[in-house]
Amino acid sequence: MGMGDQIRKQLAAAALKRQLERVSGEAQAQLDGAAPQVGARTGALADASWDARARFEAMPLYQQVKLMKQMGETLRVESPFFRVHEGMAGATTTIGGREYINFANYNYLGLASEPSVMAAAQDAIGHYGTSVSASRMVAGERPVQRELERALAAFYETDDCVAFVSGHATNVTVIGALFGHGDLIVHDALAHNSIVQGAQLSGAKRLSFAHNDWRELDSLLARVRHEYRNVVVVLEGLYSMDGDYPELERFVEIRRRHGVFLMVDEAHSLGVLGESGRGIREHCGVPSDEVDLWMGTMSKTLAGCGGFIAGCQPLIDMLRHLAPGFLYSVGLAPALAAASLAALEHLRAEPERVQALKAGGHQFLREARAAGFDTGTSAGYAVVPVITRSSLKAAQWANALFDEGINVQPIFYPAVEERAARLRFFICSTHLPEQITHTIAALARIANR
Ligand SMILES: Cc1ncc(COP(=O)(O)O)c(C=O)c1O
Repeated sequence: MGMGDQIRKQLAAAALKRQLERVSGEAQAQLDGAAPQVGARTGALADASWDARARFEAMPLYQQVKLMKQMGETLRVESPFFRVHEGMAGATTTIGGREYINFANYNYLGLASEPSVMAAAQDAIGHYGTSVSASRMVAGERPVQRELERALAAFYETDDCVAFVSGHATNVTVIGALFGHGDLIVHDALAHNSIVQGAQLSGAKRLSFAHNDWRELDSLLARVRHEYRNVVVVLEGLYSMDGDYPELERFVEIRRRHGVFLMVDEAHSLGVLGESGRGIREHCGVPSDEVDLWMGTMSKTLAGCGGFIAGCQPLIDMLRHLAPGFLYSVGLAPALAAASLAALEHLRAEPERVQALKAGGHQFLREARAAGFDTGTSAGYAVVPVITRSSLKAAQWANALFDEGINVQPIFYPAVEERAARLRFFICSTHLPEQITHTIAALARIANR
């Protein structure tokens, strides 16, 4: 491509990006429920001629999707999303008949393809069928659902635990149900979308503090704690965009001093942090009962699908009887409960998997840094970003790696700020050291082109 072509392409992309910036703000407002719906003639709708019919095409969300596609076409970068995997995906995967080294899933301990985990799921289907077909209150329990909850409660050293059918829905329904008008929800600025959605649903006041900045949280609570009835602080055990973690002992001290609830989302830290994979509390040496709500997902190390809350009996009793996402939603499928139970047993019995994951994550971080890449604040546990500072570069590098047999997802604007665009590598215990070395070498070659 000639210089003129290159410049024209960049200019077209810049114009599209400006449009995308405007539209994605409106799309976010639509998601937040604050956007004008069909009929209100603002922003993205201003150019459209008035049409009395309800049209999805007029929605800011649709405009955003269209612009993102257009941007890919203008820059001539193939979309890296929705690729079809033809078999089990772990450290490697097969796409279009070709085997790839895979850094694009959360099968952190390789348990989703472990024969005994798959056999447990098959066995549960043989006993209970594929679905429990209604909520647990209505359709009744299956032993394996309670066995999983008891095992998770024992793992977290809490009174009890309750399992939901989705990790995302767990945060939304639990935060949304427990807190409301007159309460305050304070979360880390990089909190997962499900935490933010739950806070918005609750009707409570929502504030955030700078990422991992316990001092800012402390002074915020000193100023406003007295204005609210219940206050909950929500953190993650390991942040999935940056691969860093909070100083939990600091937050625990703040919890005690300000009389607030503390909730920790262990989606990416369960089975990852701590010598035996017991998560952020083991890593930081914090007793279990210093955190009020332990939230986790079954979709990462636990080889299944669903979410859970582990905590004291009154909390679990409330959620089991009244959380809408439990009460009005189907019970966890027995096959998924059985798979996660079997995965948890492996995790307890085989801490060497956790050690292998840690070694792989540390190796990735060390070699990426040595090659001169910006890995942000990653601590080298399961998640390591390579920050490209440009969405275009992230997409181009991901496509170039794909051509070399390496599958990794780019994260670009508007999911993150343009200057934070990146490739995000998820490392599994099953990655071989030579696969990691090969990947960093390929990335260095591509970056130097
Ligand atoms: C921190 C965090 N919480 C919750 C979720 C939602 O979990 P799930 O994908 O199991 O629904 C995710 C998903 O990746 C996550 O990263």
